Amino acid sequence: MEKERTFVIIKPDAVQRGLAGEIISRFEKKGIKIVAMKLVSVSKELAEKHYEIHKGKPFFEPTVKYITSSPVIAMVLEGINAIDMVRGMMGKTDPQKAEMGTIRGDLGQFIGRNIVHGSDSKETAEFEINLWFKTEEITKYKRIDEDWLTE
Ligand code: RTP
Ligand code: MG
Repeated sequence: MEKERTFVIIKPDAVQRGLAGEIISRFEKKGIKIVAMKLVSVSKELAEKHYEIHKGKPFFEPTVKYITSSPVIAMVLEGINAIDMVRGMMGKTDPQKAEMGTIRGDLGQFIGRNIVHGSDSKETAEFEINLWFKTEEITKYKRIDEDWLTE
């Protein structure tokens, strides 16, 4: 397994409900490194680019409306197998179906307000990181626990 970067959004409902700290804390405690992070009021243009692959689906417009409704926290996270690990920590798309212990399972109720986003593949992660962040916004540092996370 190799070190990967993934793109995560703490969505408007989670920021409004005061859940950002809890969500960030879960990633921190897992040993996943935050390499970039910002609070963003998402434009319609950015939202439409982000959800480009869902264009034409019935949930496209409501999802764009949702993500632009109030500020989000956008993050680039780094770790071994980070893409799948973060998706696993988030749980299934629909919080009603997400297992307890996952972010969506523990904190959400409805698919249209599902708390977080995480990239679903290497290609998507690269596309989303480049869409949301400039190269100079991504930091490079070593966390003090890094040597204790692997053999
Ligand atoms: P995400 O992209 O946000 O990490 O979620 P995901 O991969 O688990 O789900 P995806 O199929 O990519 O859907 C993107 C977002 O669209 C909204 N959605 N609503 N009402 C619906 O049936 C429905 N389906 C999807 C959700 O906000 C979902 O996260
Ligand atoms: Mg997705």
